[in-house]
Amino acid sequence: MPDPWRLRYTGYAPAEEGLREALCAVGNGYLVTRGAAPEAAAGGEHYPGTYLAGCYDRADSEIGGRVFTHEDLVNCPNWLPVTFRCEGAEWFTGPPVEQELELDLRQGVLTRRAVCVDGVGRRTRLVQRRIASQASPHLAALETVLTAENWSGRLEVRSALDGTVTNAGVPRYAGLADRHLTPLRQEACPDGELWLEVATGPGRRIAFAARHRVRAGGRPVEAEVRARARPGLVTQILALDVTPGRPVTVDKVVAVHTSHDPATGDPLEAARQLAAEAADFDRLLAEHALRWEQLWERLRIDADLPGLGPLHLDLFHLLQTCSEHSADLDVGIPARGLHGEAYRGHVFWDELFVLRVLNLRLPELARAVLRYRRRRLDAARRAARAEGRRGASYPWQSGSDGQEQSPQVHLNPLSGRWLPDHTHLQRHIGSAVAYNIWEYYRATGDLDFLAEAGAEPLLEIARYWASAATHDPGRDRWSIRGVLGPDEYHDAYPWAREPGLDDNAYTNVLASWVLARARDALRVLPERRRGELTERLALDAAEPERWQEIGRRLHVPFHDGVISQFDGYRRLAELDWETYRRRYPDLRRLDRILEAEGDTVNRYRASKQADVLMLWYLFSAGEVRDLLRRLGHPAGYELMRRTVSYYLDRTVHGSTLSSVVHAWVLTRCDRRASWRHFRDALTADLVDAQGGTTREGVHLGAMAGAVDLLQRCYTGLELREDALWLDPQLPWALGSLDLDVRYRGHRDVRIRVDRHSVTVALGADAERPVRVGVRSTAVALRPGESHKFAL
Ligand code: BGC
Repeated sequence: MPDPWRLRYTGYAPAEEGLREALCAVGNGYLVTRGAAPEAAAGGEHYPGTYLAGCYDRADSEIGGRVFTHEDLVNCPNWLPVTFRCEGAEWFTGPPVEQELELDLRQGVLTRRAVCVDGVGRRTRLVQRRIASQASPHLAALETVLTAENWSGRLEVRSALDGTVTNAGVPRYAGLADRHLTPLRQEACPDGELWLEVATGPGRRIAFAARHRVRAGGRPVEAEVRARARPGLVTQILALDVTPGRPVTVDKVVAVHTSHDPATGDPLEAARQLAAEAADFDRLLAEHALRWEQLWERLRIDADLPGLGPLHLDLFHLLQTCSEHSADLDVGIPARGLHGEAYRGHVFWDELFVLRVLNLRLPELARAVLRYRRRRLDAARRAARAEGRRGASYPWQSGSDGQEQSPQVHLNPLSGRWLPDHTHLQRHIGSAVAYNIWEYYRATGDLDFLAEAGAEPLLEIARYWASAATHDPGRDRWSIRGVLGPDEYHDAYPWAREPGLDDNAYTNVLASWVLARARDALRVLPERRRGELTERLALDAAEPERWQEIGRRLHVPFHDGVISQFDGYRRLAELDWETYRRRYPDLRRLDRILEAEGDTVNRYRASKQADVLMLWYLFSAGEVRDLLRRLGHPAGYELMRRTVSYYLDRTVHGSTLSSVVHAWVLTRCDRRASWRHFRDALTADLVDAQGGTTREGVHLGAMAGAVDLLQRCYTGLELREDALWLDPQLPWALGSLDLDVRYRGHRDVRIRVDRHSVTVALGADAERPVRVGVRSTAVALRPGESHKFAL
């Protein structure tokens, strides 16, 4: 990306189209549409998906004689279709002879410039601009400008809304149920309006309405309209005469509503009304661009760093998935954005990586995600009960209603075998929810939120850990058995028949932290609310005592002077890395490689991604030391250094999240290596680092994680003792960093870090002073003041 605000692709590259479509998606948190060419149908290189936040549907599929139900983020009607021809010729179906795609990140506009030549040599210049409005989330628009270069005659432009689409974006899922939309009603009106209404299984009605305006030589013209409708598909053909060099512009403005939208009665009526009232393309673009300008102002990170483009691209896709418009809905953060169908659009723990950015920038968006989890507390309670435990157990993968949606089987494309999937045993996701609640509270000081919405899930998650832990009289320690850590490669002991591992260190230390925070939460709650919750949850005085006891005595295994990923890890074999590296240039899917060889990765000390090291990602070195000491283990810098280097040697980074975590934990021991991992995380999608996965959706956790590395890791930004602390560790490639954060109601805290100093300024309209510290010196900054700390 030579221009830091523009992503550009020239020419047509069949193998890369899917990647371009994901990276050129336009969206606004309510809907996202992939950057597919408007004339392209799904199949081959193209996949024109449109996804609405929170729009899921379940369907049954048969695999090997068993029926599995799965929930998908629904591919909604395709609103893009626009193509053209000279009357009597073939419709243009691509590819053009020349093409340039340009995504303007500053304004959120996708522009395509192309030249199309038909079978008899008629050349037509095509310019298309596309937006999904950040100003008006139910509106998307496509402007098409066609200029005949060497011909004159009757031009026909065909436009459609297509509700006959299926979920077919991921080849691995072929053969599974893919139909989620049932056509209800549709009409193609003679005045150029198209509308259609479809429904998903759970009875969500989805309505799309489009209106068209045609201009020739810059003036409105009446085109002849021929309209056609059949169930699920409405089409119209606009016809007018053209002459060489005289551009014809067709504006297609599309409104989308569903029956689940707030403040919406009949979705079809709402969509038709909105489409009819909508301004023309230029006006919509101006309002949309203004909103983007404001968003960029809020998310400003200026860095003295050549090649900032990937940073803007990452922030851009983050803001297209999480925005004020998604915050208005009851939706979580799908791991792969709303950009494709990988992982079926499910929500995992990846919000852990996203909320760390949002807490200090757009905390209201973070709060909305926590509320989404809060609303699913009963589902989590039900899941805990089903395991025979108390409290709440959040699902590893979920979508609509908080029920577990992890697949029970998955396909290894290398061996062609369907294998049991045990990833749902990643119970650590509950702790991630608790962590997110507490971190939001620490960053914002929003005690109201904690009292009314956050404390209850936090207490229930603590309760779950206390009931999941069993006492081992031999060790006089508590154990959490039968779980998986973040490293999904290890889902069972090679010598055991049942899946699950015991005492995953990350899970246990984090559970200990949750148990302590639950007690803290009870302490800080206003008395009346504490009383209400204690009554409602039937918490007696003994329970927090028990949390304290368990939280101090959870088992943390060690071997060879490092923390073991889980109990029994020492019994695993070392992989012959040299041989495997020689045989396979890419080891990121080592699990698949070994399975295809008739072996299993469970036998080896080899990890997909950071697991134990997550501890130093979530907590500062000092906090990890205190957590481990509380658990009775002497721990210091050396333990961290040894453990980082041990697992780094045995990790293949099969998840993009791994680079984020490694960049973070290496900052304090190997800054060069940290920077390499940072670059990997930053560009993971831009370069399609996981080899073909970005086309199925971006990796939102890595995108946000990369931003957070600049925002908090390299600045050493920490929140503790009711103060904002900075301890910069700028990598050699980074001259300076400038950013604004929001902290505890202060909207305007400006931070500038360079090699020699840190300057913090507080906006003049702040109500209270803020305590700011650098290394060990702290000052109270009054409104309008700034302070420069020498490093
Ligand atoms: C990773 C998980 C992650 C998921 C979704 C998997 O490959 O192992 O940690 O939550 O992708 O991003």
